[in-house]
Amino acid sequence: MENIIAIEHLQKKFGENEVLKDINLTVEKGEVVTIIGSSGSGKSTLLRCINLLEKPSAGDILYKDESILAADFNLPQYRTHVGMVFQQFNLFANLNVLENCTAGQTVVLKRSEEEAKKIALENLEKVGMTPFIQARPSQLSGGQKQRVAIARALSMDASVMLFDEPTSALDPEMVGEVLETMKSLAHTGLTMIVVTHEMAFAKEVSDRVIFMDQGVIAEEGRPEDIFTQPKEERTQEFLQRVLK
Ligand SMILES: Nc1ncnc2c1ncn2[C@@H]1O[C@H](COP(=O)(O)OP(=O)(O)OP(=O)(O)O)[C@@H](O)[C@H]1O
Ligand SMILES: [Mg+2]
Repeated sequence: MENIIAIEHLQKKFGENEVLKDINLTVEKGEVVTIIGSSGSGKSTLLRCINLLEKPSAGDILYKDESILAADFNLPQYRTHVGMVFQQFNLFANLNVLENCTAGQTVVLKRSEEEAKKIALENLEKVGMTPFIQARPSQLSGGQKQRVAIARALSMDASVMLFDEPTSALDPEMVGEVLETMKSLAHTGLTMIVVTHEMAFAKEVSDRVIFMDQGVIAEEGRPEDIFTQPKEERTQEFLQRVLK
């Protein structure tokens, strides 16, 4: 199998606070990896290091065998390949749904307006947002906004998608539609790294589950193993707490 992301001895410190400690993780093309763990364990920081919203303190991150920390690495291009969906939707409030999905394509990828529109419409269709292309973000529900954010990232040709608790800011009745959208994406062969507290999603959709605790990967494995027979005591404690 082909590694798309390889994280090697990654360390991240904020001042004296070592938030990520010797993280080693490879993700294969098409794999769906979920990251679970307590608040403050470093899940968001890890995702943010992967697309260089945070600069690692030590170690390396390879994208298709190339270090993203190399001086001559093309970061803007990399960011189009590695899309990120945040808890807060981060849509452009002054643009409608369609424009939200075309702006990056024309500006960063230099696509023509016509081509950008075609690609945006294909992706809006995938997330079920075709009826809303003229709407402004303020006119959408949280779940709809999140589906637009996903379509926008896909329109940039993302081959890896990073999700940081994409459903945790949503009203409960909106969670299902976003998880369904993510599930259908998982089945298209997209590589996904998903930080989530939705244990049912992690169990059902992921190929591999990573449990983080205090800045380290405390345990990783197949969902059927992690959820039914976790080896580490701290994994057992965490799961008991969140599944009760
Ligand atoms: N920009 C920052 N400056 C200083 N400390 C930070 C910064 N970002 C994160 N931290 C610290 O790093 C640690 C890990 O934070 P992180 O946000 O990665 O955790 P998390 O696992 O995503 O938690 P949660 O489940 O609450 O989202 C925390 O102690 C946090 O306070
Ligand atoms: Mg977080």
